Amino acid sequence: MQDTIEYITAKIKDFKPELGIILGSGLGDFADNVDGVRVKYQDIPGFEKSTVAGHKGQLVFGRVEGKNAVIMQGRYHYYEGYHISRIVYPVKVMKKLGVKTLIITNAAGSVNKKYTAGDLMVIKDHINLMGVNPLIGENDSSLGDRFPDMSEIYKKSLIDKTLDKAKELHMPVWKGVYAAMSGPSYETPAEINMLRIMGADAVGMSTVPEALVANYCGMEVLGISCITNSAAGVHPSRLSHAEVVETAAKVKESFKKLLVSVIREI
Ligand code: HPA
Repeated sequence: MQDTIEYITAKIKDFKPELGIILGSGLGDFADNVDGVRVKYQDIPGFEKSTVAGHKGQLVFGRVEGKNAVIMQGRYHYYEGYHISRIVYPVKVMKKLGVKTLIITNAAGSVNKKYTAGDLMVIKDHINLMGVNPLIGENDSSLGDRFPDMSEIYKKSLIDKTLDKAKELHMPVWKGVYAAMSGPSYETPAEINMLRIMGADAVGMSTVPEALVANYCGMEVLGISCITNSAAGVHPSRLSHAEVVETAAKVKESFKKLLVSVIREI
């Protein structure tokens, strides 16, 4: 961790990020217009290379709507084969750099039958079905407790602010529960049925490890899902990553608008 922080601080000098943003599939170009320092994951000691098509793999440090931000342009997924502790390592680094609020975005399939592709959903809570917890292992008590509370991972005030902004922008935005599966295979129709019975509204393969660790570290978290497809079995069509990226690309302008107006307010 010391090597990581030293490497990054040598690049960003006395820039102190207070806001962290993790960009999901197809949404990475939010960071393209941010003026600032770009640091490739592959060059950072302690970081892994990101491998998914549609993900860039760099940290972008710069001002976003008057806030000092660090943006993850591309993230690590458990299905890439990394140890779960590597997936959440950047969140711990953000904490050490001074980040207080973390906005996490992702692409997700709709479990709730009222949702359709192209909708946005603010995450009110999650269900961890990845089969692993990112805090397993020795606890670093400088970051958080051994048995951390998870009763409000997604900060209510941030959820309300986002819904208010969405209303002002006349954008319909859902509020729902995100279930995380390990992937990389999409779910079966029976699994989607199970998720619906459990109370999930959307399903994806990310976000939960990062949100869990951010909450453990004492950060405030906001999660927003871009519903890119109906989950398996809702419609007869087959699921594909191309469809996920395509829908995310269609929605990204309104997604950006919402993000910007939320960031202005926090
Ligand atoms: N399932 C899991 N992850 C996803 C999906 C899905 O349907 N869509 C985008 N990410």
